[in-house]
Amino acid sequence: SAAEKGGHDYFMLKEIAEQPQAIADTLLGRLSERGEIVLDEVRLTDQDLRDVDKIFIVACGTSYHAGMVAKYAIEHWVRIPCEVELASEFRYRDPILDRSTLVVAISQSGESMDTLMALRHAKEQKARVLAICNTNGSTIPRESDAVLYTHGGPEIAVASTKAFLTQLVACYLIGLHLAQIRGVMYADEVAAVVEKLQQTPDSLRTLLGRMEEVRELARDLKTASTVLFIGRHVGYPVALEGALKLKELAYMHAEGFAAGELKHGPIALIDEGTPVVCVVPSPAGRGVMRDKVVSNIQEVRARGARTIVIAEEGDEDVRAFADHLIPVPATPTLLAPLMTTVPLQVLACEIAAARGHDVDQPRNLAKSVTVE
Ligand code: AGP
Repeated sequence: SAAEKGGHDYFMLKEIAEQPQAIADTLLGRLSERGEIVLDEVRLTDQDLRDVDKIFIVACGTSYHAGMVAKYAIEHWVRIPCEVELASEFRYRDPILDRSTLVVAISQSGESMDTLMALRHAKEQKARVLAICNTNGSTIPRESDAVLYTHGGPEIAVASTKAFLTQLVACYLIGLHLAQIRGVMYADEVAAVVEKLQQTPDSLRTLLGRMEEVRELARDLKTASTVLFIGRHVGYPVALEGALKLKELAYMHAEGFAAGELKHGPIALIDEGTPVVCVVPSPAGRGVMRDKVVSNIQEVRARGARTIVIAEEGDEDVRAFADHLIPVPATPTLLAPLMTTVPLQVLACEIAAARGHDVDQPRNLAKSVTVE
């Protein structure tokens, strides 16, 4: 009913709107007064976590994209090698695991069979398993050595939105916690990142208030035969996530690419009018990366692409290359997916609705995939 959907047309829109609160809930109670991270559901000792010499993240679909973002953050902050792998591929590859390997299983439902099987394989090989999960008491957390619940609240729409953002926050918290107990980051450095995280709900509220343009764009794009997404660094998993949302909801051909890979093949796809959504890194900090993406945008545009550019507000230089500019509030580079993903969720939802599809129950899909 409309009441269940909180006045929104779809559960998905309700859940998109809930994201600022969901993030705040993931953060709630996780910080000590001294600005240190407290993860009390983590039943691994600090010594166990200090002994970790390798991290594997396993997950499927959108949760896998959260894992891809986590890899950038964890390696940068913790300085431990971190691999991210599709759960369905993990055990068949015979990965090298032992007591000092930490396997992080990310799952909204806690019931994805592929992720569960990867976790069981990791445990058989004596690895420690930490679950990031949104569903209390589900199978994956029950079978893990430790669990960090995302506290995002129930997610009804098949397409994952708030679960993704809260998984990102949980991954950041784990990264910061590991960095802190291993002495790679000082408490004040951790507190500085946490402060930025705590500002994201407000920034997200501002961003969500500006989605009208994205809705208009959706009406324009609903007849496109393909939509391409490009990004670099943490913008790359965001590009993959934007494409996945469009496939599952709008049943349109969509693909995400690492922006730097375009010239190695995919740029041949660009034709007159091909929509390309470009996720631009912040000009602050690693400005080099931003400039590279900007030249990728110029390259696709020179070949006829219609560019939809997601960039930090105030980044005026990108305007010249954008057929549509979607500004997002400023955030530190590693946290940017908390902002840049949101217009892509809205875009996919609105395109699907404009094409007359059931946004909450897309064809051929189930909310949790309990078969391998
Ligand atoms: C996302 O929109 C999907 N419907 C799907 O990819 C999902 O993220 C995947 O099946 C993993 O589910 P889980 O997080 O519950 O394990």
